[in-house]
Amino acid sequence: MALLEVQNIQKSFGRTEVLKNISFSLEKGEVLAIIGSSGSGKTTLLRCINFLETPDRGVITVGGDVLFDGANPAKKREKEIRKNRLHFGMVFQQFNLFPQYTVFENLVLAPKLLAKEKIAEEGAFYGANTYKGAVENINAEAEQLLKKVGLTEKRDEYPCNLSGGQQQRVAIARALALNPDVLCFDEPTSALDPELTGEVLNVIKGLKSSDSTMIVVTHEISFARDVADKVIFMADGVIEEEGTPQQVIENPHSARTQAFLSRFNQYSD
Ligand SMILES: Nc1ncnc2c1ncn2[C@@H]1O[C@H](COP(=O)(O)OP(=O)(O)O)[C@@H](O)[C@H]1O
Ligand SMILES: [Mg+2]
Repeated sequence: MALLEVQNIQKSFGRTEVLKNISFSLEKGEVLAIIGSSGSGKTTLLRCINFLETPDRGVITVGGDVLFDGANPAKKREKEIRKNRLHFGMVFQQFNLFPQYTVFENLVLAPKLLAKEKIAEEGAFYGANTYKGAVENINAEAEQLLKKVGLTEKRDEYPCNLSGGQQQRVAIARALALNPDVLCFDEPTSALDPELTGEVLNVIKGLKSSDSTMIVVTHEISFARDVADKVIFMADGVIEEEGTPQQVIENPHSARTQAFLSRFNQYSD
């Protein structure tokens, strides 16, 4: 069974139909790249999957659990939505780090709050030192993650003292700190100077080899070709074409995919 199943997602803003009928699935350890012109609905799709937007219709299933069913929209409590969100990690174009906290604090803040909440809820089953033990684990994991993204020496810096590429690597580590099932990236290198994109793309490539399941919205076509198992080309709120990178990027069938890609090829090698 697929880890993530997205079925017939529809979303309108007012009278604008932004997602028309989006379905795809993702196996554990797979990397999906989503490409497409600006305005085609890529960000809205990621936001629906992360419950930052509520789809009008459709079903989202993770590991066999139905997290959202538009046909049965039982009013979810805020707490339930937050719990659903934990299946997904999100890395945004603009990093969105907490500026008032150090790199290390950015990584441990949410996991600590979560541990506290869990202990409060299930308190009866824990001993007095539970929180201390949880914090030790969270700290140790954060050190590991800093190593993974190559930023151990920036541990105690504030985001404003880091380059864009470093900030984005912190954002990736912060998303990983919550152990999401699926890590989502929305144009993670679009806000970076060209010379800084490589370090971020390399970190994402490294995650692929450690078996993370990922959805990457990107304009970096050669990166998508190298790292993705599956590629979706979106146009006007529909999946215009999907398949392996060889199928979609090397041998696109749809005229719209061909036109989109030829615009990129003009500027790359
Ligand atoms: N919150 C919103 N309210 C109204 N329209 C929106 C909103 N978010 C996105 N849209 C519209 O939805 C369309 C798709 O946007 P988006 O998902 O950001 O596309 P992409 O990420 O592919 O550039 C655009 O026409 C955009 O103007
Ligand atoms: Mg977008």
